Amino acid sequence: MMGSLRRRLLAWLLAATVVLDLLALADTWREAAETATDLSDRVLAGSALAIAERVTVSEDTGLSVDIPYSALEMLTSTAQDRVFYRVDGPQGFITGYERLARAEPGADGKGFADSSFAGDPIRLITLARTATTGIGAVPFTVTVAESTLARRELTQAILLSSALRLLGMILGAAAIVWIAVPLALRPLNRLSEAIADRSPDDLSPIRAEVPTEVQGLVEAVNSLMLRLETALDALRNFTGNAGHQLRTPLAVIRTQLALAERSDTPDAARQATAKADAALADAERILAQLLLLARVDAAAGQSGAPVEVAALAREVTGEMIPRAAAAGIDLGFTGGPAFARAEPVLLAEALKNLIDNALAYAGTGTVVTVEVARGEQTVVLAVEDDGPGIPAAARARLTARFARGASGQAGLGLGLPIVAEIAALFGGQLLLVRGPQGKGLRAELYLPNAEIPA
Ligand SMILES: Nc1ncnc2c1ncn2[C@@H]1O[C@H](COP(=O)(O)OP(=O)(O)OP(=O)(O)O)[C@@H](O)[C@H]1O
Ligand SMILES: [Mg+2]
Repeated sequence: MMGSLRRRLLAWLLAATVVLDLLALADTWREAAETATDLSDRVLAGSALAIAERVTVSEDTGLSVDIPYSALEMLTSTAQDRVFYRVDGPQGFITGYERLARAEPGADGKGFADSSFAGDPIRLITLARTATTGIGAVPFTVTVAESTLARRELTQAILLSSALRLLGMILGAAAIVWIAVPLALRPLNRLSEAIADRSPDDLSPIRAEVPTEVQGLVEAVNSLMLRLETALDALRNFTGNAGHQLRTPLAVIRTQLALAERSDTPDAARQATAKADAALADAERILAQLLLLARVDAAAGQSGAPVEVAALAREVTGEMIPRAAAAGIDLGFTGGPAFARAEPVLLAEALKNLIDNALAYAGTGTVVTVEVARGEQTVVLAVEDDGPGIPAAARARLTARFARGASGQAGLGLGLPIVAEIAALFGGQLLLVRGPQGKGLRAELYLPNAEIPA
């Protein structure tokens, strides 16, 4: 369980906006402090200048100041802020607050500093000027300071109001997410309803309108449905065919076993069980073919990796030689390396079916040759015999499922159709032609030529 999307989105949104808002607040704080300092520095400079203008020199008394009340008046903007000043001449302190700190004036004759006085934080300016007399120039400094309580309160007020505004925005965004997520997810609910409402055997693709983000999911589900459908079809085919095809041999087995039980002589009993055994072998063969057919059905739509056909064919042929020898048939292999894109197990089964047929229908004393040849576009895997062959008219019909030849021999009629379907599965085809000497059968399995892997 991953928790709700709504909660996850909300957590992400809150985390991100809190971080961003803290950055914004820091910026606001810096800017508010700068603006306030800037403003009051200008007022400080103004009043320092006003005081400096009132500094006079007389030859006997030296420097004297007549502090204009208005110069300090302009500073006391708020009731709780206090204003201090001092004037210094070349001989040192002249008037004002002697314990007040001073700043170092710069090239423009002004210097600002942050300090404290009587326990309160202050901002101060020191202005350097000269007073001139007939004899010469006398340098002096004027320092004016103001406590910064009001300024701090102002920045704090600005900060608080922007923090409140940001908090409001965060809450608003959270509310939007809380409301919008279920709305945005509504198509998903419709989708799950559409899927839930389906009948169990409805594997048709989902057609519901979904947002692009969900499109991938729907496509994945649809392709799964398609594969399920193929697999289900294979299963349905198998169960249908198995039920139908196994009924006969099973009935024979039961009849023969009943006969064996009721027979008077051991000979008759043996005969009946031998027949039951043959029917059992039939059933086994039928099951094997049907299972193979089901595997072909289930493999629909898959393409294999390149397979070296000659090596595979040589191996399968080798496995069949003892059976061929027992049937008095000369089985051989010829051909060189050739690659085709196919599933090796299915391809081997196809070849086994073709050789099986040759061994079953060509007859004693015949020659059966397995051949692999590489063409421009195709690889041919052929099984050739010089037996009776199949009349041209019958050949086409035999690649249909459950079609039997006229020979009357045991067999289900699934061999050739399976081979044809395996060939089609890999993009090839099965051709039945007359043998090269005008007799027998040549079954040719064509497969698309695959590049020889490096
Ligand atoms: N090499 C062959 N020579 C002569 N007749 C053949 C040859 N191969 C196939 N046939 C004929 O074609 C028919 C269909 O063959 P197919 O392999 O499809 O089915 P089957 O051999 O009868 O049954 P299964 O292979 O399912 O056990 C056979 O019954 C047989 O009459
Ligand atoms: Mg066969």
